Amino acid sequence: MNDKDYSQITKTVLRKTNIDLANYKAQQMRRRLDGLIESLGHKSVQDFCDAVSRDPDVLARVKTFLTINVSEFYRDSTQFGVLKSRVLPELLGPRGRRLSIWSAGCSHGAEAYSVAMILDELTPDVKHRIVGTDIDQGILERARQGGPFSKSEVKNIGPKLLNKFLEPAKNGYVANKALRDRVSFSRQDLLMDRFSGGYDLILCRNVVIYFTEEAKTRLNHKFYGALKPDGVLFIGGTEALLDAEQYGFERMYPAFYKKAATAKVVSPLAAGAGSRA
Ligand SMILES: C[S@@+](CC[C@H](N)C(=O)[O-])C[C@H]1O[C@@H](n2cnc3c(N)ncnc32)[C@H](O)[C@@H]1O
Repeated sequence: MNDKDYSQITKTVLRKTNIDLANYKAQQMRRRLDGLIESLGHKSVQDFCDAVSRDPDVLARVKTFLTINVSEFYRDSTQFGVLKSRVLPELLGPRGRRLSIWSAGCSHGAEAYSVAMILDELTPDVKHRIVGTDIDQGILERARQGGPFSKSEVKNIGPKLLNKFLEPAKNGYVANKALRDRVSFSRQDLLMDRFSGGYDLILCRNVVIYFTEEAKTRLNHKFYGALKPDGVLFIGGTEALLDAEQYGFERMYPAFYKKAATAKVVSPLAAGAGSRA
């Protein structure tokens, strides 16, 4: 795809979805878009852009394609083991204080619900604040309804928690009201919107894979600003922050970074707290 075609798609996508492709790695995005256009059977980029503008079904396909909603409960059970045995007990302290937790790029909510189930085991009497945000309204609706989740998406949940919090449904499971009531969901674009602050734990896993380095840098500064002192950022297994200190983070365990008490370099963006998350 040439520059002119990519620019036309970028403008159409921004107008119709408010997703700015300028924040995504261009080479990979072009390759993926070529594949999408071919699979949808469009003969030209003009054809594709017309369909995106006119046909709600094509628009929905494009949104799903851009956002990639794959997720599951306890995705990477080793890391969730560390979360349960080390990170959360440290954040909770000896008296099990109330935590504020944000699953950023939460997809259908399995990640946020996984944290809610762990906290139920660790501190059954404490009502924590857990929010999930995503750019995709459709997937958030599924999250709010508690699924449905396929058998494969719940495979890492032990039988006790499965019985307590999930109900069998057609071809899978749905979260029951007790679990749904522990998490709230809202729409937020991590690249465009401002963040609220005061979080003890932020999970942002398997979201930034297609973002440019520049977009990732901005995001890490914003996460730093949204965490409380000693708060923790939990990222995907393949997304190590090699330059963690640049943002003011200290590596705790693989995939877990703590907001250091005194940061060496803090961007002005780090102070950016806002209204959305
Ligand atoms: C692969 S899922 C990851 C879900 C979950 N965090 C996990 O690891 O299982 C990626 C999610 O990021 C969301 N996403 C992509 N770009 C985003 C953006 N700019 N702002 C907020 N969410 C975004 C997608 O809609 C998708 O639901």
